[in-house]
Amino acid sequence: MTIFEENKSHMSPVWTRIFSIEAERAEGAYIYATDGKKYLDFTCGIGVTNTGHCHPKVVEAIQKQAALFIHAQANIVIHKPMMELIAELRTIVPPSIDGFFFSNSGAEALEGAVKLARFATGKPNVIVFSGSFHGRTAGAMALTTSKTIYRSGYQPLPAGVFVAPYPYAYKLGMSEEKTSEYCLAALEELLLSQTSPKETAAILMEPVLGEGGYVVPPAAFMKGLRELCDRHGILLIFDEVQSGFGRTGKWFAQEHFGVVPDIMTVAKGIASGLPLSGVFSRLDLMKKWETGAHGGTYGGNAVACAAGAATIRAMREEDMPGNAARRGVQLMSGLRKLQEEFPVIGDVRGLGLMIGTEFTSNGKPLEKTQIKKLLHACEERGLLLLSCGTYDNTLRWIPPLIVTEEQVNTALDIFAEALKETF
Ligand SMILES: Cc1ncc(COP(=O)(O)O)c(C=O)c1O
Repeated sequence: MTIFEENKSHMSPVWTRIFSIEAERAEGAYIYATDGKKYLDFTCGIGVTNTGHCHPKVVEAIQKQAALFIHAQANIVIHKPMMELIAELRTIVPPSIDGFFFSNSGAEALEGAVKLARFATGKPNVIVFSGSFHGRTAGAMALTTSKTIYRSGYQPLPAGVFVAPYPYAYKLGMSEEKTSEYCLAALEELLLSQTSPKETAAILMEPVLGEGGYVVPPAAFMKGLRELCDRHGILLIFDEVQSGFGRTGKWFAQEHFGVVPDIMTVAKGIASGLPLSGVFSRLDLMKKWETGAHGGTYGGNAVACAAGAATIRAMREEDMPGNAARRGVQLMSGLRKLQEEFPVIGDVRGLGLMIGTEFTSNGKPLEKTQIKKLLHACEERGLLLLSCGTYDNTLRWIPPLIVTEEQVNTALDIFAEALKETF
């Protein structure tokens, strides 16, 4: 019996398992399994390994730091890797975002951002958008509306969260312009009918909807949202956990819209796979957060910070956001060609290498079982993809930002064969 055979049945079944690949090692865009199979990894471990698996510059930084010290607790000492990470971050976030707090997971960052917004404004409520995913801790579950599986069994959840419609033009069946108008009006109505501006601390939004279906909002909506927040004295929080660190062809998705938030959350791509997340905001807001009012044992771990600084350097040196933009155009046009051949692909959308293909049949979301079949047909041919969306009818394309033209073509060829087999 192998170590896998002996132990895997003891893993908690609470983990959703899409594939049963036994991983041996991974490098660049590939995962190598114990049975000798090689997979083109277009999941990036859910949008984490943006620099590719085991980027040599990141590995070197981790190894060096691990030999100096692993844990240098932030309440006790100030360490150099965190200073280097802040220095790198200050070159890529908007200049007004000049306060940095670190934690370990995306959910923890969201909890932190909402705590900061409440503390700094003295107001209790938060508005989120339908289809949002912000994590699985109690506070983050309350902010999450993409699927009931993340919430049911745990109710009642913390109160003070109100939901507005995400500007999802394809689902609403409206033009971008109408979508924008409709969703801004819905937000104004929410402020009149359910949570008044004087008790609303923040509006929280994913600048590209992730788990909820890979949806790009109209630019007019984003501009209108910023204006609405300013007019009502409400903070704007962008959750860039999935859309950040070069994923959309720019350092952060917000840059596509020219809109700067008051607070932003990051995780996933920041440290190429080591657990690290952040709440970044204007320093004047951070200064309203009373010392000791938030914290954590591991936040800003030294090895994770070293990996984070090395990740940003490697991304800049190798122009990974630029490659994401170029390969994104290639992937999107390949997928649009396949859409002409397979009308079951209802929509192809995205920014950079954050692309979704939504599957529909007779104007309705395609059956989940069909999507699963398609995912497995891809897996059999050596391509790993994930689904997303409330109906699980959107495939998300999240290759590493170092993906080559040839690898994108290989993925498109595999996808075409899998589509032929499934439909
Ligand atoms: C936009 C967004 N926010 C928050 C989270 C939660 O991150 P974590 O799983 O690290 O807690 C995720 C995870 O997928 C996410 O996509």
